[in-house]
Amino acid sequence: MKISKIMQKALNDQITLEASASNSYMAMASWCEVTGYEGGASFFYAQSDEERTHMLKFIHYLNNLGISSVIPAIKSPASNFKSLESILKTALKNEQTVTTAIHKMVEISQKDKDHSTYAFLEWFVNEQVKEEIKFETLIQKFELIGRDKIAINEIDKTLAASAVTFTANAAG
Ligand code: FEO
Repeated sequence: MKISKIMQKALNDQITLEASASNSYMAMASWCEVTGYEGGASFFYAQSDEERTHMLKFIHYLNNLGISSVIPAIKSPASNFKSLESILKTALKNEQTVTTAIHKMVEISQKDKDHSTYAFLEWFVNEQVKEEIKFETLIQKFELIGRDKIAINEIDKTLAASAVTFTANAAG
């Protein structure tokens, strides 16, 4: 089965985007860990793992078509952050960028009448809806619960619970 050069490039570019997201979330996890946000650390380490699994899906898809995937060099991510809230807002922007890239690939697959890639991308379209909702809901907590020390501690516990949910889903 053949896919267009444009589609191949877009899929390879997505490997870079998922790898960058994985690295960026690892930097956020590390900042949370050293700052004392245990929940944030668990959440973002799990999120980093999740992005790695996304990256692997694109690598396997290309390789299984007989197209060598390109393993990219990744720029150092930001490592110094202002607050838990600012990290979550940056993460949401990250996810919105990924969503746009996925939607562009869907459009390419439609234009190419590339039904296989279209079907492959469907999982990512749904995943991005879940990802954006997840971050939007977490960001809302700051309005709902507050931004004082007790509120942030509560939100950190929510992040710990979200990380557990992902780990359980990934194991299943
Ligand atoms: Fe792989 Fe969270 O986008």
